[in-house]
Order: sequence, then structure tokens, then C-alpha cells
Amino acid sequence: MNSIKELSKPVKIQSGFMKDVKLGLSSQSKYLPSKYFYDEKGDELFRRITELPEYYLTRSEYAILKEHASEIMSVMDTKKPFRLVELGAGDGMKTKVLLNHLLEAGYNFTYVPIDISGNALELLQEDMEDEFLSLQIETVQGEYLNALSRSLFKDDQVSFVLFLGSSIGNFSIDETEGFFEALSEALKPGDYLLTGWDLQKNPHTILAAYNDSKGVTRDFNLNLLSRINSELGGDIDVSNFTHYPVYDPETGFAKSYLVANSAATYRISDLDLTVKFEAGESIFMEISRKYTQEYIHHIAQSSGFSQTGSWQDKKSYFIDTLWRRT
Ligand code: AVI
Repeated sequence: MNSIKELSKPVKIQSGFMKDVKLGLSSQSKYLPSKYFYDEKGDELFRRITELPEYYLTRSEYAILKEHASEIMSVMDTKKPFRLVELGAGDGMKTKVLLNHLLEAGYNFTYVPIDISGNALELLQEDMEDEFLSLQIETVQGEYLNALSRSLFKDDQVSFVLFLGSSIGNFSIDETEGFFEALSEALKPGDYLLTGWDLQKNPHTILAAYNDSKGVTRDFNLNLLSRINSELGGDIDVSNFTHYPVYDPETGFAKSYLVANSAATYRISDLDLTVKFEAGESIFMEISRKYTQEYIHHIAQSSGFSQTGSWQDKKSYFIDTLWRRT
């Protein structure tokens, strides 16, 4: 099967990582971008998070797709070839529900997962090919929007794009608006976008999802400090940080911080950077936004999509929306 690789990517990722860490840790309010959580260990920790009793997101979306796959995919013509494009490869568990349905119903499609991580794509491809012998798969390595602007997508085949798991929730407000506008630009009228959104709900339920009793989410956050140590020559004492998640029901923002227990100075030699912490000083690590349906409608309209359907789980924790590019 084909696979398109950007050979220069690993270098770019590394220099992007260096630049972003330097910027974040030298800023007055320290922060680190959560997109760097996902090295090999981070991928594994995230996989464990999705199985935690408190982390309802994955289970809720899985239930939605399991129950409604046929209705969701019914906008597509079984005979006409199309691309099922997935932004973010993940472990494919939820996607398999859709693939199963499409193959059983005899749809004519190619599965095109896009991911920045070549490693994640290779594993996904192997796994999918083992499980679905007749699946046509074409992996694309790169940033989502760059990848979508490639010539591959410039023919007249319809693209049905998946952006599952409330990954959108990890974007800032500006990034979210910019992302949907750019996505709308990259897609053709008549293309579809299926997005997973975590809905606003009881704040205790939300906070527990980011403060699990086994401490896996804590380790997921701390792993980024370990990554800075191992990849950028840092000497950060990871045990000097407390994981502190918060949820604000007024804005729908769940945020996580790592807070220094005591004053300390660390050196990150590859960045030629000395970072000082006062006791109690924080690093803002991640936003996981929770949505209202009103906001989702607003963003669809303002970025050139019309909503053709939406599906929720039984508890109304999570929603998948189907938008058509107008
Ligand atoms: C990938 N993303 C949607 C997860 C979330 O819920 O924001 C990442 C995560 N962070 C902590 N737990 C899970």
C-alpha cells in the first residue's frame, strides 16, 4: 500500500519542540504545549487513560459510533468511491467501528489516516491490514492542514473527514477558529466532516476525568518534563511537581497545571536555558475544552459548514456532529 512521507519532518518536529519549549519556559507565565505529550511513552499513557473508569470520553464516543455508524455513513453513496480521511491516527479503536460497517455494507472507499507520527501510522497500518484484509489504506504523514492541501485531495472524490475524540478541545480559542476556517478552505463543497466534541456537564464528572485515582493523567503530564530531560538535556526534578487540574463551568475550560513544590533552578543544556521556579509557580500544560451545542452550531456556520446531523450517547456526555462543506 502507498505511504507518503515527508522526509524532512523529524528534524522539523525536533526544532519545533526546542523552540516551543524554550518559548514556553522562558515566558512570564510558564506553559508547555500539550501536543508534545505524545512520544512513545505518552502514547501508551494516553491509551491507558482511555481505559480509566473516570475517563468517559472514549467510551461515550465509541458507544455513539457503534449505535449510529449506519446512519452517520448513510450520506455517502455505496457505489461512488470516496476517501475516509482521519485526522490523528490514534489506536483506531473507534475508527474500526466505522470501517467495519463500511466494509460490510460494501462501500467503495480508501482509508486515509493523517498523522504527524510516522511510527503511529506504521503501527496503525499494520493493525488495520491484519484486521481488515480487503481494506484499501493510504497513510499520509504530516500536519493535518498541510497534508490536506496535497495534490492527493485535489481530484473530484468526496472526502469524509473524521476528527474524533474531542481532540479539538486541546486547541486554544484562536487555534479552533483558525483550524475550522483552514479546514473549510482545504475541503471541497460536498465534503463531510465528522467531529467529536466533549459536552459541558456536571463539573465533578469532568474534573474526575482529568484527576484519575490511579494518577495516570498526572504521569501523562509529568512525562513531558521527562521528555525535556531526555531529549533536550534537561535536569528537571520531575518529583518536585504536583499535577493540578481545574475545571471552570463558566467557560467550559478544563486546564491542567504542573506546580513546583519548592523553589528550584533547572538547566536545559540543549536550549542553553536556565529556568527558575518559585515555590508554587505553575506551568500551564493543557486545555481540554468542553462545549455547548450552541457554540458548535455557531462555529459550523462561521467557518463555511452546515450541520447535517448529530448523535449523542445515552448520558449526553459527548456529541458527534456531521457537517457538510457548503
Ligand atoms: C486527546 N485529548 C482529547 C485528551 C483530552 O481529554 O483532552 C488528552 C488528555 N489529557 C488528559 N487526559 C486526556
